[in-house]
Parts: sequence; C-alpha cells; structure tokens
Amino acid sequence: MKTVSGKDWVIVTGAAGFIGSRLSEILLKDYNVIGIDNFHDYYELTFKKANLKRIHGRNTFKFLERDITSLGKLDDLPTLKGIFHLAAQPGVRESWKDGFRSYAINNVLGTQQMLDFAVRTGTERFIYSSSSSVYGDSLNTPTKEIDKTSPISPYGVSKLTGELLANSYAKTYGIKVRSLRYFTVYGPGQRPDMAIHRIINASLNGSVFELYGDGTQSRDFTYVDDVADANIQAFETPQEENSEVFNVGGGQGISLFDLILAIEQKTGSKLKINVQQKSKGDVQVTMADISAIELSLGWKPQIKFIDGLDKQVNWQKSLLS
Ligand code: UGA
Repeated sequence: MKTVSGKDWVIVTGAAGFIGSRLSEILLKDYNVIGIDNFHDYYELTFKKANLKRIHGRNTFKFLERDITSLGKLDDLPTLKGIFHLAAQPGVRESWKDGFRSYAINNVLGTQQMLDFAVRTGTERFIYSSSSSVYGDSLNTPTKEIDKTSPISPYGVSKLTGELLANSYAKTYGIKVRSLRYFTVYGPGQRPDMAIHRIINASLNGSVFELYGDGTQSRDFTYVDDVADANIQAFETPQEENSEVFNVGGGQGISLFDLILAIEQKTGSKLKINVQQKSKGDVQVTMADISAIELSLGWKPQIKFIDGLDKQVNWQKSLLS
C-alpha cells in the first residue's frame, strides 16, 4: 500500500460498524485509513454496507474484509502510526448463555490478537473502545475511572477483559494504550438493536416498542461524533503512562421515559409501549464523570442531546422514505 499524500497510516477495526465508520470518515481528513471489518451479521448488513459506502472509493481509504481473530500477516503493510480497535460483539442483552461464545471470541481473543498485531508491526499507539458496562451498577454517579469496576453482564466482563489485556500488553511491550469507556452512543447510523433506534422506528411506523423494565433507568447518551473526536484526541495527545483509561460521556443523564417523551415530541406521534421484564445485566443508571478526559486530552462533548437526537430522527426518517 502506498502512502497517499504523505499522510500517516492508521487502522480502524470495525470500520463498517456504527462508530467505526464515522471515526474512519473523520480520520480520513488527516490520515490514510485501513478499515478492517468481517461483516458479522449481528444486525442487518444493509446498515454496514451503507456505512461503508459513505467512505469507500476515496484513495486514502483501503478496506479489508477480514476477521480480527485470524488477521495473520497483511501484505504490503505501510508503517502504522496507530490502531483504533472498535471491532467487537456489541450489546448487553445477548451476552448470556451460548451467546457468550461470540463475546469471548471477538472481544477477548479478538482484542488480544489486535494487541499482538500492534506489537508485531511496531505500531506506536493503540486506542481501545471500551464500555460504561465495565462499572456495572456503580455505587458512585457520576462515575470516575478510579471507581470500582464490577460488570453485571458477560458483555461488560468481555469489555473489561479487553482493557486488562491492553494494559498487560502496554506494561510488557511498551506500546501506548488508551482505553475509552463509551457511554451509550447514539446518532445517525446507530445500531438497530439499541433503544433510541427502536423507539424512533416504532414512533415513525406505528409499531410497538418493547420496554424492558419500568422506564426509570437512565443513560448518559453520547453523540457519535463526540466519540470519534475523543478517539482522535486520545491518539494525537502524547501520553507518559503506557496505559490510560478515560470515560467518554455525553454529560447528561436521561431516563428512558424522558427519552420517549422527547422522541414523541420530535415525531409528533404517541408511542405504543409493551412493558416487559427488566433485562438481565441491564444497569439502572450510567453517568460519566468526564473531568479526567477534559483535563488530560482537553475533550468535552460538543453536541447537545436534543440536537443529536434531531439528527438521528432525520436519519431514520430518510431510511423510511
Ligand atoms: C449500550 C450498547 O448497546 C452497548 O454496546 C454499550 O457498550 C453500552 O451502551 C455502554 O454504554 O457501554 P445500553 O446502555 O444497554 O448498551 O443501550 P441500549 O441497548 O440502547 O439500552 C438502553 C436502555 O433501553 C436499557 O435499559 C435497555 O434495557 C432499554 N431497552 C433497549 C428497552 O427497554 N427496549 C429495547 O428494545 C432496547
């Protein structure tokens, strides 16, 4: 692969996914990007194909349809400045019983393989996409990075294991690792299994939204472009410690009930709701303390929830027309 216009090369794993595709798109302004994705069919592939379509065809973007658990050697690999590791089996609710196999393989083995790849290729920086689910039902909210990690879902365990692997590779091999704990990411392109996506869809097409629990659970929803910016700042800001962890949160806790009201106002139609049992592994409250990332990287969220929600509603409307 030839260096295009003298820009540095980086890898984004999960480049066809919701966050990975948006990150790749923004990175392409300043970097050459190798996007890797295995097109796992956890959700409809039409979403992933559409994500990729936005960035494919640019001469600074190379796409490889490959599985991170068996990446092996890549031909003609340029010198890499960094790896943004987003490829993962997402979703809290599917991670129980036999579902866990995919979480163990993709999130644990996959992360270890990418860390090993970073060492083999002499890549300086590794940005790992972690999750607020590593905290479980935290006793302290807003939650700080130094608060106890105690995941209550196998998904959360798999993401925390990824952090620990990244930490052990950083300590042993000296690569610079930053783990970013995302708090429920939303915005155009959001995965169709997530609450905001489902509520907007049900509200637009009149179908029933299955509410797991009593609607009082709340999330610190974080806009996708803010998450992409956090990645880029984590990559570009020098670090002294080999391994660091940061929360990436939107800065405002919103209950599911308030979310439903906000969406009803935007779509102008009343949501049909069917109340189900709270799902296993579902935390009651997530709320990030973001003072550490603000202090170290100068990052803070730029998009107000109500504006970000507008953008997602418009995107979903465009899918229906
Ligand atoms: C989300 C992502 O799905 C995870 O991949 C991510 O790692 C995690 O955020 C995170 O912050 O780390 P979650 O907060 O559970 O997980 O996001 P949603 O799937 O959007 O669920 C939000 C709330 O809505 C949960 O209480 C869930 O039980 C509820 N929900 C979701 C419903 O009531 N009905 C649905 O159909 C979907």
